[in-house]
Amino acid sequence: MSALEVTGLTHRFGRATVLEDVSFHVDAGEIVTLIGPNGAGKTTLLNVVSRALPLQKGSVRIADVDTSRHRQAQVVRAGCLLVPEGRQVFASMSVRDNLVLGMYTCPHSDQDDQLGRVFALFPELEPRSRQLSGTLSGGEQQMLAVGRAMVSSPRIMLLDEPSLGLSPQLVERIMGALSQLRDEGLTIVLVEQNAAAALRLADRGYLISTGRVLAEGPCDVLAEDPLVRRVYLGGAPVRSTDDLPRTAGSVTQQAPISVTDSRRPT
Ligand SMILES: Nc1ncnc2c1ncn2[C@@H]1O[C@H](COP(=O)(O)OP(=O)(O)OP(=O)(O)O)[C@@H](O)[C@H]1O
Ligand SMILES: [Mg+2]
Repeated sequence: MSALEVTGLTHRFGRATVLEDVSFHVDAGEIVTLIGPNGAGKTTLLNVVSRALPLQKGSVRIADVDTSRHRQAQVVRAGCLLVPEGRQVFASMSVRDNLVLGMYTCPHSDQDDQLGRVFALFPELEPRSRQLSGTLSGGEQQMLAVGRAMVSSPRIMLLDEPSLGLSPQLVERIMGALSQLRDEGLTIVLVEQNAAAALRLADRGYLISTGRVLAEGPCDVLAEDPLVRRVYLGGAPVRSTDDLPRTAGSVTQQAPISVTDSRRPT
């Protein structure tokens, strides 16, 4: 049984279909990355899974629970938490208070333990415990956003572009922390335009373009996929896969291009 199973999600904004029959699954303890160019529908997908947006069509199962009719708070109670794009920390509150806010579901007696977990993963935050969160650097704010999600002890964390705007060193720092959380048993869905970093970290990935899943597979195989390379080398969004049948684990015959050469599409 998958930790998260998304089947046939379709989502429209007015007359525009931005997700079309999207299915993916994540096994317990896996990091799965969803990569794709601007406007592919990645944020919409995470928002529908976490029910920040209503689910219009399709189903979402979390472990053995069908959450398709759940509201956002029930999805959180089922153990699935979204870390939205843009590190939405409460700027006028201290680091500690932001973390304590994230603990509303955990008993008061566990609070010190939970703070300890966050400070062990992100030692940078501990001396800044009383600092206003709005005065943290971008990287520190991202650490705080992940920390605040950690303290409610989710089983599944959905992260929307945690590396956005960070230096390469900080990207590695955040990715390293996610790797540690996976080692502790957390299941992670990572949306990234930084395909190189995401494919290095994750176990499996899905390529999404114009609202559809175009390729999936283990990250090392996906990194060599011509479609992934085409999208990330700045080509036009791929709209048809008729001539490119996809199977998980497919290997291409073309000369490989290192995934570290991936570029954010313009
Ligand atoms: N509230 C909305 N109303 C109308 N259209 C929307 C809304 N939110 C998103 N869209 C459109 O849906 C499409 C998918 O957007 P989404 O934000 O999910 O893409 P994304 O893959 O996360 O892109 P990016 O990599 O730039 O973050 C885009 O064309 C976007 O303009
Ligand atoms: Mg997005």
